[in-house]
Amino acid sequence: MYQRTPNHVAIIMDGNGRWGKKRRLSRSEGHYAGAKRMEDVIDASIELGIKVLTLYAFSSENWSRPSDEVNYLMDLPVKFFKKKLPEFMRRNIQIRISGNTAPLPDKTREVLARVVASTENNTGIVVNFAFNYGGRGDIIHAAKALIEEVRSGKISKDEMTEERMEQLLYTGDLPSPDIIIRTGGEKRISNFLLWQSAESELYFSDVYFPDFTGELLAEAVGRQPVNSYLSG
Ligand code: FPP
Repeated sequence: MYQRTPNHVAIIMDGNGRWGKKRRLSRSEGHYAGAKRMEDVIDASIELGIKVLTLYAFSSENWSRPSDEVNYLMDLPVKFFKKKLPEFMRRNIQIRISGNTAPLPDKTREVLARVVASTENNTGIVVNFAFNYGGRGDIIHAAKALIEEVRSGKISKDEMTEERMEQLLYTGDLPSPDIIIRTGGEKRISNFLLWQSAESELYFSDVYFPDFTGELLAEAVGRQPVNSYLSG
C-alpha cells in the first residue's frame, strides 16, 4: 500500500467484452462503456494527484480480433478525442501516445497526432495512451534506435546504458510506472510495459473495466477516495 500518491499509474483495461456479454450487448458496446469509464478514471487520477496515467487502449496483439471489433477500436479514439480535446485543453491535460502509429488507419493516426501536438505544452496530468503497443516491440524499436546512435557515432558503445535505452522507449522521458493495475480478473501482464515494469507493483482486480470506478482506483493505489467520484 502506498503512503503517498504514486507518480505513474498504468492500467490494463481488461474485461470490456465480458462486460458487454454479461449484459447481452456486443463486445463493441463493452468497449464503448470502457471508454466512458476511462473518463472517470482520468478525473479520479487528477483528484488523486497522479502525475502520469498510462492506459492500454490497443495492444499489438489486438489486430487478431474480428475485423468489426478492430474497426470499432480504430473509430473509438476518433470520436473520443474530437469530443474531449477542448476539455483536455481547458483542464491542462497533456496527451501522449506510446506505440507504433504507422500502421493505423489515416483517420486514427491523424486524430492521435493532432491531440498530441495540441496538448504538448499542457502542464497538468499526462495521460499516455498505449495504442498499437507491445512491450517486446517497444524494446526492439528502442534497441534499433540505440544501435543506430552507436553506428552513426552519436554515442559510443560504452554509452549504451539502461538510461539511454529507457529514453528511446515509446514512453520516453516518462517515469517508470509505480503500479500496474489489471482489471477483469486475469493475472498476467500481456506484453505491457515489459522493460518499464521491472520495479512496478502489480495489482489485479476482478472487476471488469467498465465497472472500475474512481473509488476502486483510489483503493488500488492505497489512498482514501475523495469527493466527487465516491459514487462512481
Ligand atoms: C480489453 O478488453 C480491452 C481492449 C482491447 C480495449 C480497451 C479500450 C478501451 C477501454 C477504450 C479505448 C478508447 C479510446 C478512446 C482510446 P477485452 O475486450 O479483452 O475484454 P474481455 O477480456 O472481456 O474479452
